[in-house]
Amino acid sequence: MRKTLLSFLFALSGLHAALADAPSRTVQNVARASCTLTALGSGKDDSPQLLTAWQACSTVVVPVGTTLNISTRLNMTGLSNKHLSLQGTMRFNPNIPYWTANGFPFTFQTQITFWILGGTNIVVDGGGTLDGAGQLWYDTFASNSSLLRPIIMTIFQGTNVLVQNIKMLNSPEWFNLVNEGKNVTFSGMTLTAASTSSHGAANTDGWDIYRSDTVVIKDSVITNGDDCVSFKPNSTNILVSNLNCTGSHGISVGSLGQFAGMFDIVENVTATNIHMSNAQNGARIKAWAGSGVGSGIVKNITFNNFIESKVDNPVVIDQCYMTSAADCAEFPSNTFIQDVFFTTISGTSTGSTVASLACSPGARCSDINVNNFTLTPPSGTAKYVCQNVNLTGNAKALFPACTVT
Ligand SMILES: *[C@@H]1O[C@H](CO)[C@@H](O)[C@H](O)[C@H]1NC(C)=O
Ligand SMILES: *[C@@H]1O[C@H](CO)[C@@H](O)[C@H](O)[C@H]1NC(C)=O
Ligand SMILES: *[C@@H]1O[C@H](CO)[C@@H](O)[C@H](O)[C@H]1NC(C)=O
Ligand SMILES: *[C@@H]1O[C@H](CO)[C@@H](O)[C@H](O)[C@H]1NC(C)=O
Ligand SMILES: *[C@@H]1O[C@H](CO)[C@@H](O)[C@H](O)[C@H]1NC(C)=O
Ligand SMILES: *[C@@H]1O[C@H](CO)[C@@H](O)[C@H](O)[C@H]1NC(C)=O
Ligand SMILES: *[C@@H]1O[C@H](CO)[C@@H](O)[C@H](O)[C@H]1NC(C)=O
Ligand SMILES: *[C@@H]1O[C@H](CO)[C@@H](O)[C@H](O)[C@H]1NC(C)=O
Ligand SMILES: *[C@@H]1O[C@H](CO)[C@@H](O)[C@H](O)[C@H]1NC(C)=O
Ligand SMILES: *[C@@H]1O[C@H](CO)[C@@H](O)[C@H](O)[C@H]1NC(C)=O
Repeated sequence: MRKTLLSFLFALSGLHAALADAPSRTVQNVARASCTLTALGSGKDDSPQLLTAWQACSTVVVPVGTTLNISTRLNMTGLSNKHLSLQGTMRFNPNIPYWTANGFPFTFQTQITFWILGGTNIVVDGGGTLDGAGQLWYDTFASNSSLLRPIIMTIFQGTNVLVQNIKMLNSPEWFNLVNEGKNVTFSGMTLTAASTSSHGAANTDGWDIYRSDTVVIKDSVITNGDDCVSFKPNSTNILVSNLNCTGSHGISVGSLGQFAGMFDIVENVTATNIHMSNAQNGARIKAWAGSGVGSGIVKNITFNNFIESKVDNPVVIDQCYMTSAADCAEFPSNTFIQDVFFTTISGTSTGSTVASLACSPGARCSDINVNNFTLTPPSGTAKYVCQNVNLTGNAKALFPACTVT
């Protein structure tokens, strides 16, 4: 009887569900094993049927060749043991007035998102595509720099989340935010942001991590217009490996210590086996200084085996981020940087400076290790710059005596 009632409800909601489990399910165990969605068709919003299926089924299949039109925001948080097998496409309809008014807001850096995904034991896979339909956003942002643009996917309060083998296209803003997550893994992802107009795909970070612990991002290819991966406040125990980043702003710790009264922690981060091409930065740590900013600690960070090609700033610490030299001298950063390893960094820069390690005055950086650098500028002699820091490691010899301010 339950089965009939469910079928009736699904028919009402427009959900075409395929009951793939055994007929002997009990009344208590009402969650359907697998439900397959069909697009409702031209002019229709598929968000409601996706949300209904997510509630009712343990696996939701979006088949190859199916494009769901996502026109209302997706709250897929708070549930357990859910699997989205995305073989087709979810396209986020670029209805700018709707999303700027209704995207889920995040106070941190004034972001909004199309989709919050959370809960426990969540898998998203299937080889399909999340299409952010960013072009209209890029073009509109060009004439309205305060336009709120949505992040495609935010893992929000998710525990044991696995996202693998998914393509993400043209995000209006960051591709992924992990906010208050624990044990979240991304693997085999392909992220591509490419504008077809003269207006760039701005702020299309690959991943931002915030208030999250145990996050893995691996075996992925990213072409975008901002940070490839960024570790924002309170990112701990993070592994980033085997990434190909093209056109990005690099793998960045920070910026940290921006907001007065806040204490930011980034600890136990390893980024290894990274190909970084045509990028603004390679391996970077940035923290604010000046009056009225925040504080924090950056500790035990390893950048290992970076192969860089045409990168503006291959190796960077900037502990006077967005602060004038005079202000940084008067108000050194209260975000301390400790136990950092830049190891086996090779390739080419676009300018003469291949490494710049600029710390605030007053010994705010300690145990900064540099090893096995083979970095080449396009012409002339490579420049190595350091300030207010005692370096260790075999690449220390490449640096002249660090300036003290
Ligand atoms: C998506 O749904 C919205 C809202 O119903 C509709 O206005 C729009 O035309 C649909 N898009 C497509 C491609 O069907
Ligand atoms: C998302 O849905 C959950 C469960 O219904 C609810 O508790 C939560 O408040 C919703 N989140 C937002 C941001 O609307
Ligand atoms: C620019 O975007 C903001 C934020 O999304 C919005 O409030 C404002 O109305 C937009 N301005 C114009 C001129 O469209
Ligand atoms: C972490 O999540 C993965 C799924 O990505 C799961 O297999 C593993 O058991 C989880 N680890 C813990 C300690 O729960
Ligand atoms: C990754 O980058 C390297 C160097 O730029 C390139 O040789 C390789 O083909 C890339 N791999 C993929 C999967 O894009
Ligand atoms: C980071 O964690 C510390 C320690 O739990 C906490 O005091 C601080 O407020 C957190 N900062 C942010 C930005 O959440
Ligand atoms: C960093 O890793 C060490 C060694 O595993 C561990 O003791 C420490 O608690 C970790 N720090 C955080 C903030 O998780
Ligand atoms: C440093 O972080 C790595 C993970 O990135 C962890 O394996 C290691 O135990 C940490 N070391 C210390 C001394 O905390
Ligand atoms: C630097 O390279 C040498 C030679 O490949 C290797 O033996 C050594 O372990 C490397 N140093 C570090 C700190 O990885
Ligand atoms: C560098 O080391 C010297 C000698 O131990 C110490 O006096 C100085 O304060 C250190 N400088 C920094 C920036 O840590």
